[in-house]
Amino acid sequence: MKKYTILFISIILLICNCQNLKTGSDEEGKILNDQILESATISNGSGMEVKVINYGGIITSIKVPDKNGNFDDVVLGFDKMEDYLGEHPYFGALIGRYGNRIAKGIFQIDGKIYQLAQNNNANHLHGGIKGFDKVYWDILKRKTDDGQQIILQYESRDMEEGYPGDLSIIVKYTVTEDNQLKIEYKASTTKKTIVNLTNHSYFNLEGKSQNTILDHKLTLNANEFSPIDISLIPNGILQNVAGTPFDFTREKSIGKDILLEDEQLKFGGGYDHNFVLNKDKELSLAARVFEPTSGRIMEVFTTEPGIQFYSGNFLDGTLKGKDRIAYQYRSGFCLETQHFPNSPNQPNFPTTILHPEEIYESTTIYKFSVLKKGP
Ligand code: BGC
Repeated sequence: MKKYTILFISIILLICNCQNLKTGSDEEGKILNDQILESATISNGSGMEVKVINYGGIITSIKVPDKNGNFDDVVLGFDKMEDYLGEHPYFGALIGRYGNRIAKGIFQIDGKIYQLAQNNNANHLHGGIKGFDKVYWDILKRKTDDGQQIILQYESRDMEEGYPGDLSIIVKYTVTEDNQLKIEYKASTTKKTIVNLTNHSYFNLEGKSQNTILDHKLTLNANEFSPIDISLIPNGILQNVAGTPFDFTREKSIGKDILLEDEQLKFGGGYDHNFVLNKDKELSLAARVFEPTSGRIMEVFTTEPGIQFYSGNFLDGTLKGKDRIAYQYRSGFCLETQHFPNSPNQPNFPTTILHPEEIYESTTIYKFSVLKKGP
């Protein structure tokens, strides 16, 4: 823990010494929950802009151009940063220590049983009652050779939400000149623990989140997915997508098969499943989404073995977001890069154990572009 605090301080000193950098936030911080709520904005030369707050490391907006050069915000959320302190379904948030579900919140390391917070019926979801989405992170902004960057840092205490070990986490958000939002995660622990970090942004590439995402066209670089049980926990089998509604190996509208009679769609209430990525190299293309009206394309690259494709099935019109829009059923989708849900209880899934002598590292890129109109 000390090591990381020192590292973080050195980064700050280094930055302060050498760059025309702006540390801290855009706005006057607001004192809420006895903490100062702050935001920071990063952008590039062509106008792409990403805004993040220190509460939950939440991405509150991503502004990118459409095929006519008009900029829209393509993520769901709120206009006022203090609204993120209330109840919402993880809009834009950093998720940890463990993304998605752990059955009954129980897992073992070296024969020792750990009981995590149970916040999703009897199960553990997205890091528990007060996961990384609900804590204040240290935040600073700087310039790098890659582009403007926000660095977030958080020290999670031993047994926080039931997880062993002090965990030091650093997350970097960078906006590059070629319209990538790059997210880099690093963590280290003082005791053997489990880690699976992700980001929970809800996208609507049309930029009009009053409309559903069902006409967005999705391609997933995944020949297999993880079928779930009724409580949305993978049953341990990896199933080939061929001949199922889960086949996105060729571009298909999200809505094309979503209403088919299918047990897995029924259990998920739509798509809410982990896809097993076909990996050729470390950082590789996981997903591509094309929205025909705006011409926007989003590609997702990751070093992770899986991606949770969630079609916004729990949005139900009760939550009013930006511009007072009531977020309707399936008006946003998530593509959460990750290790598979419930891995600590599935020995055939890639391990999520982090040892004290190791560094957890993971990178995900959301890259935005447009398909121009023909000549
Ligand atoms: C999960 C959903 C959950 C949602 C939270 C997704 O990552 O897979 O089951 O409801 O997050 O809003």
